[in-house]
Amino acid sequence: MKNTKHLVIILTALVISLGLISCKEQSDLAPAESSEFQVAELTDEARACIECHATETHGIVEDWDRSRHADEAVSCIDCHQVEADSPTALHDVEGHEDLTVTVSMLVPPSACAECHEKEVADFHASGHERAGLQVIDKDSMQTLIHVHEGQNHPELSGASEETGCMQCHGTQIEVDETGHPTSETYPIAGIGNIYPSGEVGNCAVCHTRHSFDIAEARKPDACASCHLGPDHPDIEIFENSKHGQIFAAEGEDWVWDSAPGEWEPGDYRAPTCATCHMSGIGELETTHNVTERLYWNLWAKVSKERTDPDVMGMYYGDGEAGRETMEMVCGECHSSTHTKNFFESGDGAVQLYNEAYFAPAETMRAELAELGLLKDNPWKDEFQILYYHLWHHEGRRARQGAMMAGPDWAHWEGFFILQQDLYRMEDIYNQRIETGVIE
Ligand code: HEC
Ligand code: HEC
Ligand code: HEC
Ligand code: HEC
Ligand code: HEC
Ligand code: HEC
Ligand code: HEC
Ligand code: HEC
Repeated sequence: MKNTKHLVIILTALVISLGLISCKEQSDLAPAESSEFQVAELTDEARACIECHATETHGIVEDWDRSRHADEAVSCIDCHQVEADSPTALHDVEGHEDLTVTVSMLVPPSACAECHEKEVADFHASGHERAGLQVIDKDSMQTLIHVHEGQNHPELSGASEETGCMQCHGTQIEVDETGHPTSETYPIAGIGNIYPSGEVGNCAVCHTRHSFDIAEARKPDACASCHLGPDHPDIEIFENSKHGQIFAAEGEDWVWDSAPGEWEPGDYRAPTCATCHMSGIGELETTHNVTERLYWNLWAKVSKERTDPDVMGMYYGDGEAGRETMEMVCGECHSSTHTKNFFESGDGAVQLYNEAYFAPAETMRAELAELGLLKDNPWKDEFQILYYHLWHHEGRRARQGAMMAGPDWAHWEGFFILQQDLYRMEDIYNQRIETGVIE
């Protein structure tokens, strides 16, 4: 237990002036005013941050104090210190005048890599790496955001991006001359934030600052703030699955804080997002590369096996190895027949989507485009709106629902609506071909 491993020191105004005295003595003196922090093993420099921030930003110090980092004497300085000439070095913070170190508000993954090299390398090798970069890169996305959602508003056309896309995907963080991030780019909880140095990532989205708690990251809630909604309802699919049912019924009694590599069936009865996509289980080691255990790309217009070695590529990953490792996860609780049969029917659903829905929809779209029978503004064109919904919403729900055992999403929110989309598209297509005009 963490608190028994360390001498707990009580800090009060009195203590600060008298120096440190023992916990027991202190609680006898002024129990009501005391606050306890794990500062015993810290340098004076490191302790200064905590003592002052205990009043300035109380919640941050409380979170840190309960963390494994406090147990291990990893303090504010270990993450926030930067070189004096760093663009993110803070210059004008009242209260920092006497500091002997330079502090940054921003903490990129390289700060964690000092002690967690593998986790950071895995993250950079995952699909999460491109989350911010690819939104900035895509012209069609920028048109959707500024022209349509932002209605070309002279000052506010970026508002939907700042409050929407960016908060999940991340963005380019900019700092002013004092080293503070700007209001257009911060606060930001995106997974693929891009720091002023060009470095990418955010280590605080699944185990949030400043508790950086492994138990939090293992729960499905850690992924749910981003993996939800009409186009990738992963949390809803999970809740609909037998696994989600069991988690909902008894998850609060499971063991969540086992040491890394030691969290195994028995601690829990059903897998969470982390168990299948990240955690060590059986022979498998923990990975921070969420792409590692995937076979298909299930968000693309057409699902194909992942074979591209480029992390920015659409079919990034090694599908065959991905399937093998994912099957090892299932194999810790299910028989090989259960697992083999499950993936056979799931793969069938993905192929049905590819062949019976996306292929004919794309053939019709290409022909209408060739004949000049599509509107220039796709968001005003019934055919093109249906096409978008077919692959981006219903088609993803059917594929992801099938592969993660969520029958309501595979069927009612997926294939049922897919056939409706396709039939309506066929009617519009036939009418345009017969009349030669857009209705
Ligand atoms: C004597 C008090 C004091 C000390 C010592 C101190 N800070 Fe601060 N710090 C402040 C105050 C005051 C703020 C501004 C808080 C606000 O704006 O709400 C601040 C802000 C910050 C910020 C956020 C930047 C901002 O402007 O909002 C960070 C990060 C930070 N401190 C880290 C540290 C670290 C790391 C140390 C130790 C090396 C440290 N502080 C030592 C008082 C202190
Ligand atoms: C394990 C690394 C780590 C440690 C230890 C740490 N921080 Fe942070 N801190 C972060 C990260 C990550 C962020 C988010 C910054 C970003 O988005 O780039 C952050 C953000 C902050 C912020 C600005 C955000 C806000 O909510 O206001 C303050 C202030 C801050 N830390 C103070 C502290 C203080 C004080 C301590 C010591 C008690 C401390 N930090 C210890 C990693 C750390
Ligand atoms: C100076 C070294 C150091 C730095 C910098 C550091 N950590 Fe840690 N971290 C540790 C140590 C030591 C542990 C405990 C390791 C163990 O349990 O075996 C730990 C544990 C953790 C854990 C597991 C906590 C638990 O509940 O078991 C997480 C998550 C974590 N760190 C995230 C981060 C993140 C994110 C950053 C950067 C924002 C970071 N760390 C920066 C040293 C560091
Ligand atoms: C802060 C938002 C956020 C959180 C939290 C988050 N993700 Fe993601 N995730 C994304 C975004 C955005 C993408 C799409 C990245 C891209 O392809 O540009 C993504 C993509 C993925 C992918 C597909 C990767 C690929 O190569 O196509 C998987 C699998 C995934 N996340 C799993 C998880 C799991 C499991 C968790 C929780 C443990 C999680 N994510 C937490 C935002 C998030
Ligand atoms: C609620 C969080 C959230 C919001 C808001 C959001 N996305 Fe995403 N986005 C995700 C997740 C999660 C994925 C991964 C889906 C998957 O793996 O199936 C994703 C996937 C994508 C992809 C496909 C991945 C790739 O690498 O090409 C693109 C493009 C994309 N989002 C762009 C955007 C744009 C542009 C916006 C705003 C107009 C936006 N997203 C808003 C969470 C979000
Ligand atoms: C998509 C969610 C997510 C993101 C982003 C994330 N982590 Fe984790 N992290 C987890 C999960 C889940 C675990 C627990 C794995 C397990 O069951 O042991 C974990 C565990 C850890 C641990 C404990 C040791 C281990 O590997 O199990 C460390 C250290 C850690 N993370 C550091 C980081 C760092 C550094 C980053 C940024 C590069 C980061 N994490 C980003 C989800 C995430
Ligand atoms: C029982 C294990 C399991 C659980 C639990 C699980 N997944 Fe999955 N997930 C899978 C499998 C299997 C696939 C499809 C892999 C493939 O391509 O063969 C998948 C696919 C995905 C994808 C699609 C990536 C793409 O290509 O678009 C995302 C995103 C994702 N999962 C996120 C999550 C999130 C978030 C949770 C929790 C809310 C979760 N998963 C829970 C097994 C699981
Ligand atoms: C930690 C153990 C565990 C892991 C790992 C696990 N499952 Fe399960 N799974 C269960 C339990 C328990 C049930 C509920 C059995 C019941 O309905 O009586 C279940 C139910 C299911 C069901 C519903 C049908 C049925 O037999 O009840 C499917 C489908 C399924 N799992 C697929 C998978 C797949 C695919 C994987 C790997 C990607 C996987 N599971 C990983 C424990 C697990």
